Parts: sequence; structure tokens; C-alpha cells
Amino acid sequence: MDITKLREETPLCRNVIHFNNAGASPMPQPVYERLVTYLQREKEIGGYEAEAEHRPEIEDAYRRLAALVGAQPSELALVGSASRAFQFGLSALPLKPGHKILTSRLEYATVFMNLLQRRQAGIEIEVVPEDGQGAIDLERLEQAIDSRVRLIVLTHIPTHTGTVQPAEAVGRIAREHGLIYFLNATQSLGVYPLNVEEIGCDLMCSTSRKWLRGPRGLGMLYVRSEIRAHLNPPFPDVRAAVWEEPHRFRWPPDARAFETWESNPAATLALGEAAAYAQRVGLEAIWQRVQDLARYLRQRLRELPGARVHDRGQTLSGIVAFTLEDIPPLRVKELLKEHKVNVHTSTARSALLDMQDWGVSEVVRASVHYFNTEEEVEAVVRILAEAS
Ligand SMILES: Cc1ncc(COP(=O)(O)O)c(C=O)c1O
Repeated sequence: MDITKLREETPLCRNVIHFNNAGASPMPQPVYERLVTYLQREKEIGGYEAEAEHRPEIEDAYRRLAALVGAQPSELALVGSASRAFQFGLSALPLKPGHKILTSRLEYATVFMNLLQRRQAGIEIEVVPEDGQGAIDLERLEQAIDSRVRLIVLTHIPTHTGTVQPAEAVGRIAREHGLIYFLNATQSLGVYPLNVEEIGCDLMCSTSRKWLRGPRGLGMLYVRSEIRAHLNPPFPDVRAAVWEEPHRFRWPPDARAFETWESNPAATLALGEAAAYAQRVGLEAIWQRVQDLARYLRQRLRELPGARVHDRGQTLSGIVAFTLEDIPPLRVKELLKEHKVNVHTSTARSALLDMQDWGVSEVVRASVHYFNTEEEVEAVVRILAEAS
């Protein structure tokens, strides 16, 4: 990996140390250019006209994204966010009163609240305990499966800590028992070598703006072609659904059923560019480097008196959750900002099931990507040491 070149293509690196890639990671130059040149064209010839002119490239963006995750382009829908993608997918599932959903303790607020809402429809939610190291316990998952269970919902990498859940092993269990498997890959697309075939998920939601380094305002829903016919999409829209007769319409046979007429072609093109960029850098190499950098950051933080690193798990991602003894997390964020370092904080409200046991209601979330460096880690730890 040519870090110098990758940093040159990430102009933000000249101004700040960006350890908020789990929030939004900066678009690399080619991605940014794709966005801007399309908007330029829109300025010149008009919105609908520019979209028509770019139709083949827009379809190509789906192909690039699909290739990144081992899917077919027709299995992808682009919507406004990962949360919307999850809500659309979940609402379309054939769940009935008495059915049960199994999930993990590491779920994101939006995901879990949407599951909770299903209880109004008589659907039961069961949270499978963790394995003693933070991730879902696979044995307990199998034990929880009975004739009422229809769906497993798993957040691959959570929002607030580095734990990587065993998505592939959960997929094998779902397959063996004939269950639908919905993976939330919001914190793994673009950083982890995600492959829907290897994972065995039937649905997957994710986002453009985080580790994939695409533009903001775009989420993705993957729907395995074999299960599409069993889904009942919640909102017909003129883009894909066909109003055939005054009192009858037809759904498209693929994931596009979840899209709307109004879309953001500039962002779609840029997302395709981001997918191609990630492929060129190489997902295996990205995952290795991010894990190494995060490990180094955790190690250096642990050497800091009064610092506590909260991440647990056999496999850890680029998300590092920590607190300092004397300085509240929000103050740490402000203080780092004053030194041109971007981090974020996670509050218990974003992952209540897990964080309620942590004994702290907020943590600093530092998330490193492949373009970050050991020197940046050193600089951040130095600022924290001086502050505390
Ligand atoms: C684990 C996880 N899932 C889902 C989401 C929701 O993503 P979006 O903001 O695109 O809806 C987030 C956002 O931070 C997240 O961290």
C-alpha cells in the first residue's frame, strides 16, 4: 500500500488528523471529482438531462458496488441511509404474530428500536447473550432457535466499539436452520472483505459515507435474489413499480423495488467510484492495516495513566473506544479538535444493550482508516498525555 500516494489523494490529511472514519470517512480525490464533474454537467445541461446522459455510468456504479460485495447489481437498492435500508428490508419480511427474531447485544439504536416496534405486531425479540468476549455466543444462538424463530438480525461491527461479530458463522447457522439472515454491515463495508456469499446473509444494509469513503446521503440494501419473491416491499414508487391498470400495479422482481424515483445520480456515480477505489487499494490489505493501526492505538492508550480502553473481542476493528479518568469524553473530543484531531463520542443511547453494563455513559470513539499513520497515533497520544 502506497500510503504517501493514498494520503495525497486524501487532501484532508494536510489539515487534520482524521480519526472519525466510523462517522464519515473523507472521499478520496477521484470520488470527489466524480461528484463535482457530474454536478458541473447538471449545471450545464439540466438535471434530468444529465441523468439520461449518464445512465450507462449509473448502472456501472451498481456493478462496481455489487462486485465489491460479491452480489449481482440487481440485488442492490440505493436509498437515503443505512437506517432506511434496514427499515425497508425489515418491513418487507413476511413476519407474523408469534414469530420470533434473534439478535445480539451489539445492535445499533435504530436497528434495535425497529425490532422493538415489531412487538406491536406480536413478534417476539430475543437477545442472544455474548460469548464472554463481547460478540454473540454461537452456541446460545443455536440453542435459542425453535420453530417460532424466522429471522436473525446481526450488526457485524457495532457503532461504539471494535468488536467484530462472527458474521460468517452466524450465516452458517441461519442456513442450517432455514432462517432469514439480515446483516447490518454499516461499520464494515469498505474496511472488511465483505462477501455476501461467504457470509450467507439474505439481506444486508450499509452506507456509503463511512469506511467505503463515498459521499454522504446514500445507503445500500442488498436483497438476495432467491428471497426477493418472499418479500413485500412497503412503499410502491413510480421508479420501479409499474401501474399497469387503474386498480393494479406490479412490483419489479429485484431489489430496485425499494428505490424511489427521486435519487441522487451524482452521489450514485461517486459511490461507484468509491467502490472501485476500495477494490484497487484491496480489501484484504485495508482490513489488515486498519486492524494493525487500531491495535497500536489501543496499546499506546493503555500505556497512558488514567486511560481505559473498552474494546473486547477476538477480532477487533478500526474502532477504538476509550475514556480518560479526569476528562469527560466530550471534553476530550473538544480538546482534540483544538489540536486539529477529529474523533467522535458514543453515548449509551446508541448501543444501550451493551453500554448499559460498561459503567460509563459515554466514550471517546477514535476510528482509524488505512490512510492514517503510526505518527498520527503518536501525535494523538501525546496530546492526550499532555492534557491528562
Ligand atoms: C452500526 C451502525 N449501524 C447503523 C448505523 C446507521 O447508519 P446511517 O446513519 O447511515 O443510517 C450506524 C451509524 O452510525 C452504525 O454505526
